[in-house]
Amino acid sequence: MNVLVVGAGGQIGTELVPHLQKIYGEDNIIAADLRPDVVERLSKGSRALTLDALDLKSYRETVKKYNIDRIYNLVALLSATGENNPLLAWNINMGALVNSLEIAKELNCSLFTPSSIGAFGKETPHKNTPQDTIMRPNTMYGVCKVSGELLSDYYFTRFGVDTRSVRFPGIISNGCLPGGGTTDYAVEVFYEIIRKGEYTCPIPENTYMDMLYMPDALNACTQLMDADPAKLIHRNSFNVTAMSFSPKELFAAITKRVPDAKFHYSIDPVKANISASWPDNMDDSSARGEWNWNPAWDMESMIDDMLSAIKAKQN
Ligand SMILES: NC(=O)c1ccc[n+]([C@@H]2O[C@H](COP(=O)([O-])OP(=O)(O)OC[C@H]3O[C@@H](n4cnc5c(N)ncnc54)[C@H](O)[C@@H]3O)[C@@H](O)[C@H]2O)c1
Repeated sequence: MNVLVVGAGGQIGTELVPHLQKIYGEDNIIAADLRPDVVERLSKGSRALTLDALDLKSYRETVKKYNIDRIYNLVALLSATGENNPLLAWNINMGALVNSLEIAKELNCSLFTPSSIGAFGKETPHKNTPQDTIMRPNTMYGVCKVSGELLSDYYFTRFGVDTRSVRFPGIISNGCLPGGGTTDYAVEVFYEIIRKGEYTCPIPENTYMDMLYMPDALNACTQLMDADPAKLIHRNSFNVTAMSFSPKELFAAITKRVPDAKFHYSIDPVKANISASWPDNMDDSSARGEWNWNPAWDMESMIDDMLSAIKAKQN
C-alpha cells in the first residue's frame, strides 16, 4: 500500500505520517506540503516533497510517480482563519478537494478528506447531534465542509471512487500547534499553563464542544480507511467523538493537577460565534456500529498525558 499525505505538515499530518509508517512501512508513505520549511522538517523522518495541491498537473504526476493507492487530503484553511478570508478558504479547501477527487477517480486511489463539526450550524440539534441531521453552517469553513461531504459522496455513487471521511471535533495534541481553528484553546492552554502559569481563553466558559485526543484521531483515519466497505452504510462523513467539555470544566480539571494555574477570559467574537453554532456533543453510534470506532482517551487521561508530554518538551 503506497500512501500520499497532502497537507502533511499541519497538526494532524505531522502525527499521521509516523502513524502510517508504523502500519504500512516507512518507505510506502509520501508526505507532501506546500511550505518548503515544513517539508524540510518532514524530510528528517520520511520521504517528503513540496507540492501545491491546487496544481493539478504536479499533484497528478506525484500520484503517478509514487504509484499511490491511498490519499489523505489534509489541506485546509481552518475555521477561525477562514472567516478572515472566506474566498481564499473556499479556493483552498474546495480546490484541493476537487483535485484530489479527480486524481482519485483517474488513478483509482481511495481518498480520505476530513470533515468537521464545523459542518453543523445553529439549526442543528446541539445535544446528542445525530449522524444524519440539519446541516446549515454559517461559516465559510462549514460551507466548504458540507460541500465537501456532498461532493465526496457524489464521486462515490456516480464514479465509484472509494471516498470516506469523519467529522473531526477539536483535536488535542502535543506534536504540532493547531493551525487557526475554534477549538485551539484546548491545546494552547497546556502550553501557556506550563510556560507562564496562566491562560486567557477566547471562548465563553460554558461553551461545550466535542474533542478527541490525537492517538484516537489517528486511529480513526486508518481504521475507517481499512474498514470492510460492505459494512459502510455512510461514507462522508461519520460523527466521531471521545469527550465533550466546556473551558470551565477543562480548567477545573487542570487546576486539580496544577493548583496555582490562573485562568482569564477575553472573548474573541468570531470564535465565540462559531463555537456557539457547533454541537455540544455528537452521537457517534454510526461510526461505532459500521467500523468499530472505539476511542480510548477521555478528558482526565488526556490532561495527564498532555501535561507530562509538554513538560518533557519544554525541559
Ligand atoms: N485540527 C483539528 O482540530 C481539526 C478538526 C476538524 C477537522 N480538521 C480537518 O483536518 C484537516 C487537517 O487539519 P490540520 O489541523 O492538520 O490543519 P493545519 O492547518 O494544521 O494543516 C494544513 C496543512 O496544509 C498545508 N497546505 C495549505 N495549502 C496547501 C496546498 N495548496 N497544497 C499543499 N499543502 C497545503 C499547510 O501548509 C499545512 O501544513 C483539515 O481538513 C481540517 O479541516 C481538523
